[in-house]
Amino acid sequence: MGTLDIDFVRAQFPAFAEPSLQGQAFFENAGGSYTCKPVIDRLTRFYTQRKVQPYAPYDASRLAGEEMDEARTRLAAIMGVETDELSFGPSTTQNTYVLAQAFRQWMRPGDAIVVTNQDHEANSGPWRRLADDGIEVREWQIDPDSGSLNPQDLENLLDEKVRLVCFPHCSNVVGEINPVTEITAIAHAAGAFVCVDGVSYAPHGLPNIGDLGPDIYLFSAYKTYGPHQGCMVIRRSLGEMLPNQGHHFNGDSLYKRFTPAGPDHAQIAACAGLADYVELLCVHHGGPETGASAQGGFVHDLMRGHEVALLQPLLDAVKDRNTLRLLGPSDANRRAPTVALALNRAAEPVAAELAQHGVMAGGGDFYAVRPLTAMGVDAEQGVLRLSFTHYTSQQEIDQLLEALDSVL
Ligand SMILES: Cc1ncc(COP(=O)(O)O)c(C=O)c1O
Repeated sequence: MGTLDIDFVRAQFPAFAEPSLQGQAFFENAGGSYTCKPVIDRLTRFYTQRKVQPYAPYDASRLAGEEMDEARTRLAAIMGVETDELSFGPSTTQNTYVLAQAFRQWMRPGDAIVVTNQDHEANSGPWRRLADDGIEVREWQIDPDSGSLNPQDLENLLDEKVRLVCFPHCSNVVGEINPVTEITAIAHAAGAFVCVDGVSYAPHGLPNIGDLGPDIYLFSAYKTYGPHQGCMVIRRSLGEMLPNQGHHFNGDSLYKRFTPAGPDHAQIAACAGLADYVELLCVHHGGPETGASAQGGFVHDLMRGHEVALLQPLLDAVKDRNTLRLLGPSDANRRAPTVALALNRAAEPVAAELAQHGVMAGGGDFYAVRPLTAMGVDAEQGVLRLSFTHYTSQQEIDQLLEALDSVL
């Protein structure tokens, strides 16, 4: 695997050339990433040249519609799924909410679902509320020390009543990468579908969802260098079976069945910029010349290689400090660069101190109250979260380590 050309990468993000951000090292990427130039360019072009009702027979409208289609076609190809299996909604939280309504109508009292206490609330609360309609909710629990989900524990929760298993590809506080393919196989063998929250994983390389195997995979484009959209892959066999949640006359379009809101035309079109960015990185680094999913895989591995190399020294610097607790694995290969630290005091003031050192980070519960509580962390005090991505430089990591030394 090649090495990521970090200067080239950073040149694709206008934020790094922005005078007001100079000297500021950004470590709250799990909350929302910087936006890449191809996305900003497309958004600007849409708002200046194509901001009309799309899919009508005049040029501005035709181009608007074509660009929205392009976004779905190219991103779906990168992720190894069919174009109409990808849809966009306002956010991942709203997407799970709509999906839960579809399952509410499809399931029967006495049926069961499995949720975890490792998930962000977005992939937990909407499913748990199905209990109001007589659905049995079973909780797959993390180990209180490591924060890990053990697939064997899931096997013990499954039987013929379980219709759906919801879990994260990677928690936004534990950071550990869950074996999606293995978990999916276990659920499928028991006759259940799976819904994977990929929000904390996708920023570290768009996955090949076709290869991974889940029935539903969700992520948020505003954390993957794009606009504020929730992206939702629903595989055809499940999507066509669940009751349509959109307008009745749109029920035959798979990609319209679970997005009752009117689509955000400009932002969906701008998501094609994410595909531009993947292609740009692939070509620059001498990756495959054709095949969107091969290019996506190549870029995924490039990003991951860079992140793992930068992450290990950060983990080494914090894992043995006796004034804090590192949540999740201390081996960079097993986790995303989303590093939550439980301190012996409230985390937000510490984030404020880091800001004095030019480090932008956050403190709080990050809507992960359940995993924090399950691990014995006081959610009120919260955790200090340091999260980065492939565009983070060694220099920024050094700045962070120095700031941590001074603050902790
Ligand atoms: C792991 C995870 N899942 C889901 C969400 C919710 O995503 P959205 O803001 O698109 O609703 C977040 C947001 O922070 C998240 O970190």
